[in-house]
Amino acid sequence: MRIYRIRGGEPLKGKVDISGAKNAALPILAATILTDETITLENVPMVNDTLIMVETLRNLGATVDYIDDNTLSINTSTISKYRVDNPSIKKIRASYYFAGALLGRYRQARVPLPGGCNIGGRGLDMHEKGFKSLGAEVKITESEIIVDGTKNDLVGTRMYMDKVSVGATINIILASVLTPGKTIIEGAAKEPHVVDVANFINGIGGHITGAGTDKIRINGVPKLRGGSYAVIPDQIEAGTFMMAAAITHGDVVVNNVIPTHLDSISSKLREIGCKIEEADDWVRVIGPEGRLRRTQVKTLPYPGFPTDMQPQISVALGLADGCSTVVESIFDNRFMYVNELKKMGCNIVVDECTTAYIDGVEYYQGANMTSPDLRAGAALVLAALAAQGQSDIDGIEYIERGYENFDKKLRNLGADIQKLEV
Ligand code: EPZ
Repeated sequence: MRIYRIRGGEPLKGKVDISGAKNAALPILAATILTDETITLENVPMVNDTLIMVETLRNLGATVDYIDDNTLSINTSTISKYRVDNPSIKKIRASYYFAGALLGRYRQARVPLPGGCNIGGRGLDMHEKGFKSLGAEVKITESEIIVDGTKNDLVGTRMYMDKVSVGATINIILASVLTPGKTIIEGAAKEPHVVDVANFINGIGGHITGAGTDKIRINGVPKLRGGSYAVIPDQIEAGTFMMAAAITHGDVVVNNVIPTHLDSISSKLREIGCKIEEADDWVRVIGPEGRLRRTQVKTLPYPGFPTDMQPQISVALGLADGCSTVVESIFDNRFMYVNELKKMGCNIVVDECTTAYIDGVEYYQGANMTSPDLRAGAALVLAALAAQGQSDIDGIEYIERGYENFDKKLRNLGADIQKLEV
């Protein structure tokens, strides 16, 4: 078993370079299926989830070569099957993007039901509704999503999303790019990674407008070409390092970011007493000398405060002066880390799985903890960095699903963190 062993108490100081966005890279990797020509993708984070996507592309028959750790050359013209069946794909949520991409390109797909973090119910009804609106038959069995667009011609249409869903918005884009006619998605997700997928597709000949607003229009084109594209920086990795600076009372320059993507995080950090400076592609976070201040947080779709930063800010508020409330409005069970955090002395109670009441304590005490999911695991690392004494955190394979070289980047900022085989 691999663990992080952390001795807390060091203020993080220095500069950190942010990797490419996992949640943009995953659908863009699937989107390479939409063209027969070669794609060069840069700034792809080397994390477990992207490695599984690459393995799946290869398993389908595509050629994927690593030019360096973060640059891939991909040619999917040799794809020879439409059923995704490599066992590791079941571990990740983004597997559903193969349904949209294979449906869009080959009019059929069979994909195992998605796995991913256990953070509450994660329905597929919006994906199903989108595919059906385009004219595909959709069957969701106990183990698979089966989509079939061979019986009726797929055709562009207008659809209304009942919930704001990142995955469904992107999946409908993937399925409709090569579908004749105009597809309009009303109530679309506005997250930066939705925009990044649209920019990638437009760069190789697609015709998508409105990405980043709640109304996206896709004019079907007959064919896409090849090209090069660099994935945007990871909003959540950047936010996690910003929170690490705050919680350790440090001073960190977070490089290679798009500051506007971080506005909701920067604004909360200011509220709790941090100083924020920003320029074109960096943000500097200076933690307060005294205690952090209390606040209220509610997670919301972009541009609101991201659910993927909820555990990290809750951990910071556990050390704030006074009582804070954190409302999770996207997922119905995203407080799985709370029992672990209590081991450190955090004074936190969760009501109905959606609202955390936190009465800040002056310090955390090191503890042995298990990471329950990706962002919660990162949050426990932050708590350990701020704690007195030593903490061991296992379950770090979750953290490595989404953070490239997390321990190394933290060490470069002065953290006392080791990855050990125990
Ligand atoms: C994406 O998940 C991200 N995952 C998540 O990041 C992120 O937390 C989430 O978007 C919200 O920003 C990837 O991009 C791979 P949703 P996704 O569809 O697409 C409900 C991380 O830590 N819903 O926007 O699965 C759903 O249950 C991960 O990197 C339906 O009810 O999220 C949830 O309550 C964790 N029916 C809400 O909508 C549907 O058909 C938002 O889900 C689809 C979603």
